[in-house]
Amino acid sequence: MKILGIESSCDETAAAIVEDGRRLLSNVVNSQIDIHAVYGGVVPEVAARSHIEVINPVINQALTDANCTWDDIDGIAVTYAPGLIGSLLIGTLAARTLAILKNKPLYPIHHVEAHVYANFLNEKTPEFPMLALIVSGGHSQLVLFRDHGDYELLGQTCDDAVGEAFDKVAKIIGLAYPGGPSIAAAAKNGNPLAYKLPKSKLSGAYDFSFSGLKTAVLRAVQNEVGVDITFPSTQLAGLLTDARRNDFAASFQRIAVETLVDKTERAYFDFDVKSVIIAGGVAANSELRRILSDRIPVNIDYAPMNLCTDNAAMVATMGYYYALKNQPTSPYDLEVAPSLSMAKSA
Ligand code: KG4
Ligand code: ZN
Repeated sequence: MKILGIESSCDETAAAIVEDGRRLLSNVVNSQIDIHAVYGGVVPEVAARSHIEVINPVINQALTDANCTWDDIDGIAVTYAPGLIGSLLIGTLAARTLAILKNKPLYPIHHVEAHVYANFLNEKTPEFPMLALIVSGGHSQLVLFRDHGDYELLGQTCDDAVGEAFDKVAKIIGLAYPGGPSIAAAAKNGNPLAYKLPKSKLSGAYDFSFSGLKTAVLRAVQNEVGVDITFPSTQLAGLLTDARRNDFAASFQRIAVETLVDKTERAYFDFDVKSVIIAGGVAANSELRRILSDRIPVNIDYAPMNLCTDNAAMVATMGYYYALKNQPTSPYDLEVAPSLSMAKSA
């Protein structure tokens, strides 16, 4: 079964074709990173406009790259939740229109759940029960999957998502958007023990918090450059040397990664899982991969970096498993759900 996946929930317009949830036939991603970088973050209206411009060419490219015509496509899977409303509308409208015109079944896909499915394209398919650490710009959660579509949310962030913390800290110390890759690169040249930053303690055994860590970095930077809390935060970065910037990046990354690994390790030992996977943009972080593999005594098969950040291959892959268990949705009725969490969709 060949599924066309369509993804447009944030700032990537993507289309991909996956056969039987295993073979990636094409994977086209049009990133808007350059467009938003000048603003230091995603501007929703600009994102929606850019999706409109490229959605059709991106879908056509996915068909061409896979050497497919519409006759070869058995179904369309599209991200309908969660995300920016204007962005979600473009992908779902394209998918609904194509489902009607080409007479194909349409499958609604939850973006955060889809991230997990990047791992199902690995050589070895993860086994259930599976512990998933899902860490992106909008989500940080630990989920126990008993089967496809059958999961329990064990814990989540109480405030900022970890990717959001990477992005905000990058801004404070003067590194480019998106902050995750910039911090990871700067951290390679920094000392992770240079600054003592706090790990937040929460009552929920598997919950996270990253807002306090971000504020601790802000205070430490103010202290380092010798200004008080009234000093404009946008001007702080200009007072940091590159060496200190790298030290802040490394010190922040160490605590953020340890926080994620501590909770994942705890869940691993509390539940009898057969596999552990990580998913979402922050799963591309090599320190997270290194430390998690050190601490968890099970072989973790990491997905390629380009399938960790937003893409449609993960949407098409989940679409295949979804189609095995569920009826297609009506292309006339599918609505977007910008703030639907995974807990509610279970
Ligand atoms: O999954 P994703 O592409 O989009 C969302 O659904 O949010 O995740 C984007 C997030 C951004 O916050 C970005 O800074 C972070 O993933 N990210 C990373 C790395 N690459 C991307 N964070 C840490 N280390 C990385 N190498
Ligand atoms: Zn994502």
